[in-house]
Amino acid sequence: MKFTLKLLAASALLSLGFTAHAAPIVIKYSHVVADVTPKGKAALKFKELAEKALPGKVEVQVFPNSQLFGDGKEMEALLLGDVQVIAPSLAKFGKYTPKLQIFDLPFLFDDLQAVDRFQASPEGQSLLNSMTKKGITGLGYMHNGMKQLSANTKLSMPADAKGLKFRIQASDVLEAQFKAVGGNPQKISFSEVYQALQTGVVDGTENPWSNIYSKKFHEVQKYIMESDHGALDYMVITNTKWWDGLPADIRKTLKSAMDESIAYGNKVAFQEGLEFKDKIIADKKAEVVPMTKEQKTAWRTAMKPVWKQFEGEIGKDLISAAERANK
Ligand code: LMR
Repeated sequence: MKFTLKLLAASALLSLGFTAHAAPIVIKYSHVVADVTPKGKAALKFKELAEKALPGKVEVQVFPNSQLFGDGKEMEALLLGDVQVIAPSLAKFGKYTPKLQIFDLPFLFDDLQAVDRFQASPEGQSLLNSMTKKGITGLGYMHNGMKQLSANTKLSMPADAKGLKFRIQASDVLEAQFKAVGGNPQKISFSEVYQALQTGVVDGTENPWSNIYSKKFHEVQKYIMESDHGALDYMVITNTKWWDGLPADIRKTLKSAMDESIAYGNKVAFQEGLEFKDKIIADKKAEVVPMTKEQKTAWRTAMKPVWKQFEGEIGKDLISAAERANK
């Protein structure tokens, strides 16, 4: 009896034009920073644009603040298909393609505009496809900003870094950079930086203004030097097999949504990046210290040997192309 009723109900629904809909494609987009940063805003923009362009067909789930995976695990999760989009800092790809280490070379780029020009150049664009054999497709570059040095002592000259412990991202270039000034670098996940600074596991670190402010690093560091000594940017990546397996029309629409979200995030980085510096100053928890030209030159001279050290892995031509982007 029950069965007959169910059958009748089902045929009635069908005759009314109800058909079963395919479940939406779920896209998990995981990252480690706060929603208010350029990357955080770009990820939310991608959700908005993708779901608007493909209503009912895709569902984008954004996981900020290392909620789903921290940066030690997110690449593995992407390759396993546990997450579909991530946007690691370019410092975190050394294991997959040594060429991307170019972005970590200290004092290579004069400013974010130069980084932008290099990324848009044929050399920069070709790096987006440098990991497809490893199952990773680059969907685009995304900006954060130039890094600032911070510590509990004023880092006016390179000698001030001697013997200090610095938190770094998982990058051999950054390790060499701090060793070049007598520092003691330690690779630590982004989600653990605040505590490492607070408890004195490390004395200092480097990050752009938006990350320093949104993760409150300025509350556990006495001085932030306006060093602008390197770039912290991202590559938005996806799992090649998953991406190539999407229906062509869906992939095309998602790529447009991604391009637009990245352009939006980059605009945020250029327009709002420096506002975080003002917020840090207004907070009065750490002192923001400008650096003179002479001081910067001293840091540059001390750190520049790192270029030679990694020239073999990165390629001399690529370094020259990046230098040309400074204009
Ligand atoms: C860091 O680990 O300091 C950054 O890569 C975090 C991020 O994604 O901006």
